[in-house]
Amino acid sequence: MTGPPRTPWGRATGAAAAFMMLGLVGAQAVHAQSAPPFPGDPIAGRRLFVERRCVRCHAIWGNGGTLGPDFASAGAGQSLHQLAGMFWNHTPRMIETVRSRGVGWPRFTEGELADIISYIYYVKLFDAPGDAARGERWFSEKGCVECHAVGRIGGTSAPPLDSYARYIAPIALAQGLWNHGPRMRLRQAAQQGWALRFLGREIADIQAFIRERSTQRAAPVTFLLPPNPTNGRKLFAERQCFRCHGSEGRGTESGPDLRSATEHLHVSEIAGQLWNHSSAMAAAMQARGITFPEFRGSEMADVIAFLYYLRFYETGGNAAAGQQLFAAKGCVTCHPADGAASVGPDLARSDAALTPLGLATAMWNHAPAMYDQMQLADADWPRFEGDEMRDLALYLRAVAARERGAVGQR
Ligand code: HEC
Ligand code: HEC
Ligand code: HEC
Ligand code: HEC
Repeated sequence: MTGPPRTPWGRATGAAAAFMMLGLVGAQAVHAQSAPPFPGDPIAGRRLFVERRCVRCHAIWGNGGTLGPDFASAGAGQSLHQLAGMFWNHTPRMIETVRSRGVGWPRFTEGELADIISYIYYVKLFDAPGDAARGERWFSEKGCVECHAVGRIGGTSAPPLDSYARYIAPIALAQGLWNHGPRMRLRQAAQQGWALRFLGREIADIQAFIRERSTQRAAPVTFLLPPNPTNGRKLFAERQCFRCHGSEGRGTESGPDLRSATEHLHVSEIAGQLWNHSSAMAAAMQARGITFPEFRGSEMADVIAFLYYLRFYETGGNAAAGQQLFAAKGCVTCHPADGAASVGPDLARSDAALTPLGLATAMWNHAPAMYDQMQLADADWPRFEGDEMRDLALYLRAVAARERGAVGQR
């Protein structure tokens, strides 16, 4: 593994700075693992985001250009195909900008587009750092201070929390809470008589408070690997989560469907939610003879990333709706379905629709030529909302598959 980049935050640029803010290393180690079974590697996407100059116009939390929207918030809560639609909507603006600067159109392979979309999805997992003043309030209101000390102030019946100051992101604190939860809860029930729960960004605030007041606040920061959803999926199986929540988090009789559990939530909120349910889960685990799982290093962050990605890969779709969209968006005027002489290629014979992001990739790469044809035809640029891109892709995949079947029979 390579060491963390030692740039001070203020001087790191763009996407790199966003990772620095989170206290994460852009790790090579992630690549050393077996090929990700998920399409789209956010770490590779981050590199493309810089290499393809997206960062000149787009920022992440204010690090980067300001011409386009900041991806820390743009596109929040959208799945892979919804983000692909958002990409497409943006092409006319980019075509004009790119032409006015005399540079070439940035083409993507399907894998690269998946990587970059995955990155745009991924950055929204992270919270901005918490608020130390609020953290101080939670630390006393929630009663942590009665048992734990920070900066030598607080109780001594539990270990001091100063050492958590070496992490920037709140995930290590959340992991400590989770691991010690069963024992801590017993003590708390005996001493305070109420259950500790977290709302919103409270864990992030407490982390900020610890960083500010800790006796170890001058200690060097420990950088964590970026959360890796592929490893999280492995842990989800290894630590028996699948036994109640199903293999892809789709739920069973013993545990809820987790696909929408993380909607619009960031790391610290998901960690809080895990905590809030951990007492009920610990009881359910005990009843089934499952050992309460503990997490080390980046493991809890990985599991959270996996939960977060469940929605990203939402599949399904409606081919009939896709057929209607093909007409309604005007595609059919240049790409007639019967293979008649036309402006654009016959999409039934195109390989583009055969793979998950193939349509979005081909559309992006051909956008400048399509744009010129549309200008000539004085047609409006078709925009995609919601799941339209997914439905259209499903329809075109069915058409292309049928065409191949027909060719096979001739
Ligand atoms: C020269 C400036 C510029 C560059 C370079 C640029 N963009 Fe944009 N981008 C914009 C602007 C301006 C918008 C605002 C939306 C619009 O009007 O199209 C935008 C919007 C977007 C959107 C839609 C966001 C939304 O909320 O709807 C996506 C996705 C996007 N850009 C991705 C990228 C990617 C990926 C790259 C790098 C390959 C990139 N952009 C490079 C200027 C740029
Ligand atoms: C009633 C006492 C009590 C309260 C209140 C309490 N804790 Fe704990 N906490 C403990 C005990 C006891 C342990 C050690 C449990 C063990 O031995 O595994 C612990 C362990 C921890 C750990 C792991 C420490 C380590 O060494 O890694 C963290 C993190 C933590 N608590 C955070 C908190 C936070 C944050 C709050 C308030 C939101 C809180 N605790 C409230 C008693 C308490
Ligand atoms: C023995 C069964 C069981 C196991 C094993 C289990 N869970 Fe759960 N899980 C539940 C139940 C039951 C609930 C609902 C608990 C409640 O209502 O508080 C739940 C709730 C959750 C929630 C909150 C869902 C929501 O909609 O807010 C998350 C997230 C979660 N579990 C993740 C995990 C993870 C990650 C693991 C593995 C480390 C795991 N669970 C292991 C039974 C289980
Ligand atoms: C004004 C005419 C026009 C319209 C409308 C149009 N296209 Fe195209 N399309 C073209 C042209 C021309 C090309 C070939 C571009 C090139 O060679 O770079 C093309 C290429 C494509 C390709 C690449 C095919 C391949 O095999 O690589 C796809 C996919 C595609 N269009 C999909 C669509 C979809 C979906 C719509 C509707 C949202 C649409 N097009 C609307 C003119 C159009």
